[in-house]
Amino acid sequence: MTARYYPEIFDAPDMNAAKAIILTPEGPNADTETRWRHETPYVLELIGKAFALAPERVILDYGCGIGRLAKAMIEASGCFVIGVDISPKMCRLALDYVGSDRFVALSPTQFDVLVKGGLRVDAAIAVWVLQHCLAPADDIARIRRGLGPAGAALVLNMPKRAIPAAVRDSNNTERFAWGSDQIDVAALLRQAFAVAAEGAIDPTRTPHVADVGAFWMNLRQRAA
Ligand SMILES: C[S@@+](CC[C@H](N)C(=O)[O-])C[C@H]1O[C@@H](n2cnc3c(N)ncnc32)[C@H](O)[C@@H]1O
Repeated sequence: MTARYYPEIFDAPDMNAAKAIILTPEGPNADTETRWRHETPYVLELIGKAFALAPERVILDYGCGIGRLAKAMIEASGCFVIGVDISPKMCRLALDYVGSDRFVALSPTQFDVLVKGGLRVDAAIAVWVLQHCLAPADDIARIRRGLGPAGAALVLNMPKRAIPAAVRDSNNTERFAWGSDQIDVAALLRQAFAVAAEGAIDPTRTPHVADVGAFWMNLRQRAA
């Protein structure tokens, strides 16, 4: 059996497909729309505890998807959000969904170019993203390079890795699977940043991710 990295799984053709891959249906009373409605305000609260949102602040939404949290942050505070996503289709859907001139959506490479040119953000979020990254140390380094010297970040992550993969079986048929490896994303984050606080997801607010051990971390930029 062979497997290859398959990030194209995130190239959702439309808004409904995108929502279903961002918050997968998890059974009765945990369909995508219900999870979207319950989880989004909870994550916004976690963001508010991690760092201040204000109109003059620029926030990186790393792995922004269709901009679920970018939209919530802008509506709550008027901040400016730079969404970054590996999927060009997610970026295009995000521009429609967020629908604000306080939002742009970039590829990781475009973000790197701007950071090389001097861009620094005030704060960053990466919500349900790093578990999917093939080389999360690279993504963490990218976030860190883009964060200003007093920058803060909130990460929400699953403990289990879920790397998108196309798997070819003994019949030479290719199918999609979530792959795994031994990379400890929390340990990488502790090496890269100073940890201000960390904890488990509140099971009364979003039980389906809490049950499987999802965690949050409030991080601070380290001196270079
Ligand atoms: C589960 S969705 C979460 C979306 C959004 N953060 C939210 O909570 O609504 C994961 C997103 O991360 C993006 N992604 C995966 N790997 C990435 C990478 N290496 N760099 C940037 N984005 C990535 C995917 O395209 C997808 O849109």
